[in-house]
Amino acid sequence: SLADPVTLLTEAADARRGIGAFNVIQLEHAESCIAAAESLGVPVILQISQNAVTYHGALRPLASAALAMASAASVLTVVHLDHAERPELVREAVALGIGSVMFDASKLSYEDNVAATADIVAHCHAAGVAVEAELGEVGGKDGAHAPGARTDPRQAAAFVKETGVDSLAVAVGTSHAMTSHDAVVDLDLVAALRAAVPVPLVLHGSSGLDDAGLTAAVRAGMTKINVGTRLNVAMTHAVRRVLDTDHAVVDPRRYLSAARTAMTDEATLVLRRLHITSHH
Ligand code: G3H
Ligand code: ZN
Repeated sequence: SLADPVTLLTEAADARRGIGAFNVIQLEHAESCIAAAESLGVPVILQISQNAVTYHGALRPLASAALAMASAASVLTVVHLDHAERPELVREAVALGIGSVMFDASKLSYEDNVAATADIVAHCHAAGVAVEAELGEVGGKDGAHAPGARTDPRQAAAFVKETGVDSLAVAVGTSHAMTSHDAVVDLDLVAALRAAVPVPLVLHGSSGLDDAGLTAAVRAGMTKINVGTRLNVAMTHAVRRVLDTDHAVVDPRRYLSAARTAMTDEATLVLRRLHITSHH
């Protein structure tokens, strides 16, 4: 069923659990993530990026499908607009019934980021929609930004206060679109951010972490864990395997079902690392 994103993330942050947020490009991505979450009985976030909207040429078809799947899911599910840089796209998402958006003005100066984000927050909160923003650019977006960026805890606290955002994406060592798993999260910085910032923290580029890295990031205080590339690697490898072994195949369901199974397995592995039972 559709979940309230603010409640979902704040409760998870309080309990030091991670919530998996997976990028959806095809219906199979969403089907896989829901299947994985249902098999474990944990909540999940389906996110549609501005890049995916550009790829499909529109938000509505994929958003409507994701919302329908989220409503039908047996676990709490949120549909989220990811990395929106265009305010018009945020407004369209709100009008379509998407309950959570990331407005990404991280390429702007601090002052311009605050002003643009505060405007979006006013519009979204009036409609009951939660807003995630980013401060201290996470590396690797468009391949153009240095992976060395870090978010300053005091500036992060001020940014949340000035904008009213419901969650904050921070730069703590990950980088977008990594196919290896050797990124290192600055756990001391995560702990400092967790202590300074009153809203749940979002980790982007989580495909770059190995299993231990995912768990460590959550334990240190990261809550929404964004994963995209890792599912796409699994999908692509599965499709290639089928096409390489069976040259007569023409029905896309033959290779897409293999891709869906591979993505379900991968999402399950990720979700298992985020829902840690704490022992006191
Ligand atoms: O916003 C989406 C995530 O940051 C995905 O990053 O593709 O590197 O896992 P990733
Ligand atoms: Zn991201």
